[in-house]
Amino acid sequence: MIVVASGNGSAGIGPALDILRAGGSALDAVEAATRVIERAPDDHTVGVGGYPNILGEVELDASLMEGTTRRAGAVAALRGYAHPVSVARAILEHLPQHVLLVGDGAARFAAERGFEPEELLTEPAAEAWRRKVAGLPPVEGEGGGKVPIGTQATLAQDPAHVAGTVNFIARDGQGRIASAVSTSGWAFKYPGRVGDSPLVGAGNYCDDRWGACACTGLGEWAIRAGVARSIVLGMEFGLTLSAACVRAMNDLRTLPLPEGARPVMNLIALDARGAHAGYALDAERDFYRSYCWQTADLDEVQTAPCIPV
Ligand code: GLY
Repeated sequence: MIVVASGNGSAGIGPALDILRAGGSALDAVEAATRVIERAPDDHTVGVGGYPNILGEVELDASLMEGTTRRAGAVAALRGYAHPVSVARAILEHLPQHVLLVGDGAARFAAERGFEPEELLTEPAAEAWRRKVAGLPPVEGEGGGKVPIGTQATLAQDPAHVAGTVNFIARDGQGRIASAVSTSGWAFKYPGRVGDSPLVGAGNYCDDRWGACACTGLGEWAIRAGVARSIVLGMEFGLTLSAACVRAMNDLRTLPLPEGARPVMNLIALDARGAHAGYALDAERDFYRSYCWQTADLDEVQTAPCIPV
């Protein structure tokens, strides 16, 4: 039994392992772990306290995937609900054939399933947003402003705020693997922007036969290169976990970048035998230098460096 997480997921590992030790499923474990980080207001990249979009509204993306069945559930641009991972779980379990709901449809389904709406924008996140938009002309529709929102969406390329997400992968006592990803996405993004986190194959992929991968970083890169799926497919085709991750990262380097942009991509992966690793394409920032993990026989969460590519 093991739980692996991105560097900001440490606080979720204990509750997830408690579930595994009690005989619970990997899917239960990754959902519970993700909820811990979604509820933490000081993580401005996930859930409550997440940085808002350019209009000051928090929009959340999340997915989870069950490796035994390759069933998945996901939500994108969900407003007003603190636990998008649990709404995603409800889609997986209660909405036949559906995988992904977005925006108003996702919120409608959350309400139907009895989730309680709540305010997600905290004062520190609102203050960061105010500092960012202060002095900019009001955007179209806001206070009579005429400036299209798109002209200001380059704010999202601010490297201090561009990326952040939480990842969990767990393997339970029956050898089942599950993965979960949750994020508030780019800070100050264009309303309705969807990153890789809710897109199965881009930011999250899981298959008991080979392993799982989950990403943090600039979601558009993971979408364009199908990163998570490509890593699991690499392992299916006989690559080691390490070789599959390095191949995927090097593939990202072949994507043309806008002038001045830096490729930011980080991932965690677990193979079917229990080997795990974290990789970072841009290892200069503290947040991405490590990932964490714990097996059921250990008393403490372990932190390990991400391997720079
Ligand atoms: N990786 C999260 C996002 O780009 O939204």
